[in-house]
Amino acid sequence: MSDAINIGMFGMGNVGKGVVQLLAKNKSVIEKRVGKPVEIKKAVVSDLKKDRGVDVSGILMSTDPDHILNDPDIDIVLELVGGLDVAETIILRALENGKSVVTANKALLAERGRTIFRAAHDAGGCFGFETSVGAAIPIVRTLRLGFAGDDIVKISGIMNGTSNYILSKMSQDKSGFSETLEKAQEAGLAEADPTLDIQGIDAAHKLIVLMNIAFNGVFDFSQLHTEGITNITAADIDYTGQLGYTIKHIGKVRKTEQGIEARVHPALVPRDHIMSSVNGAFNSISVFGEFMGPANLHGLGAGPGPSAVGVAGDVIEAARYILTGQQRPVSPFSIPLEEWRPIDMVPMGRIRSEFYLRFNVLDHLGVLSSISKVLAENRISVRSVIQKGVPSETEAPVDIVIITHEAMEADVQAALGQINQEPFMAGRTQLIRIEPD
Ligand SMILES: NC(=O)c1ccc[n+]([C@@H]2O[C@H](COP(=O)([O-])OP(=O)(O)OC[C@H]3O[C@@H](n4cnc5c(N)ncnc54)[C@H](OP(=O)(O)O)[C@@H]3O)[C@@H](O)[C@H]2O)c1
Repeated sequence: MSDAINIGMFGMGNVGKGVVQLLAKNKSVIEKRVGKPVEIKKAVVSDLKKDRGVDVSGILMSTDPDHILNDPDIDIVLELVGGLDVAETIILRALENGKSVVTANKALLAERGRTIFRAAHDAGGCFGFETSVGAAIPIVRTLRLGFAGDDIVKISGIMNGTSNYILSKMSQDKSGFSETLEKAQEAGLAEADPTLDIQGIDAAHKLIVLMNIAFNGVFDFSQLHTEGITNITAADIDYTGQLGYTIKHIGKVRKTEQGIEARVHPALVPRDHIMSSVNGAFNSISVFGEFMGPANLHGLGAGPGPSAVGVAGDVIEAARYILTGQQRPVSPFSIPLEEWRPIDMVPMGRIRSEFYLRFNVLDHLGVLSSISKVLAENRISVRSVIQKGVPSETEAPVDIVIITHEAMEADVQAALGQINQEPFMAGRTQLIRIEPD
């Protein structure tokens, strides 16, 4: 065995550079904790000419995957490339070649989890994916180990820092979505292409990873109802604030008598709810177990520093297995491979929620009673109504805000389908679900 635990790193972008810096700065403490030096021996990137902005003098760089995958001295392969095809090939080949693998790739695990986890199970090495959800927040390890004795009934939380930053800033500055997104991009808190974050896809990937662990099955990403924050307006933030709510982008899954209900969307959260005070780029994930009740993990869910800590934790765990000769740890899920099975989610239409509905209408006589009638015909009962804006001679549209009692999603969608056809409607109806607990 070599004098060090040798790492081969694929990708040296935001996360990879953080890992390089962390392993250099904390070299001696990590050596103490592992019992041997942990060193990045090789790295594979796509552009060798790029200035990395970190000290890579001791690292052999290449663009050839075999540089790492065929090197028998590499113990642990880090997949920090992202995306699907290239990352999948790297992970599968590394596992086949007997390496331990650490990845931060939530997209791959959520969309191709069956292939990846099966390969990880069949391989001899460790498979770490802590950083894929919440970066340094140890939610994966906590669900796999700490809470493995309990029956998890619900997970909910803020799982995307960029969306949370934008919503917090919109609320603080009373600004609109587009201008706030631009400021987030200028501040380096949103990607140049922010699609995965603002469309809710990143949070949806993370929720699927957590569901797979917590509910002992393999969930189909394409079944997960996913909405982002792009339709949230300054008016919604204002009105919901007056009603005692904060708008947050949440991922939520719960076990019900109908089955597993899961969704990712913006939600109204009561101002005294734990999620309401989570601002900026922070993540906050609550887990509810039958025996343990609620537990909450909170912290920065992205960025080079937190992500590097998540990766380093997995590296250290793998190094300890390697050094103690334990080649096959327990399944990367909470259950043995034989128990893995696809689990269908409850269709979104059958999920019940309370709703915030904002109708942008021409202020004609009888509009409110027409809306109320359609809602009642679709079994939706109204908890409160607020009319915003003053009728004027210019006939500028006004907002009618309705908070409903709990209603079935399909009924609400059917009612909105009818109401949106009415001649008094001036704009798109806003629908935001209310997160009661
Ligand atoms: N950013 C975060 O805060 C964060 C947090 C948690 C999880 N993650 C996950 O971590 C992963 C990496 O994210 P990131 O933000 O670090 O991405 P990134 O900044 O875009 O870096 C990607 C790296 O992969 C390299 N690369 C691209 N194609 C390659 C190929 N075919 N072969 C080898 N290397 C290749 C790039 O090389 P060049 O530099 O030469 O172009 C770059 O160094 C993703 O799965 C992401 O979801 C990110």
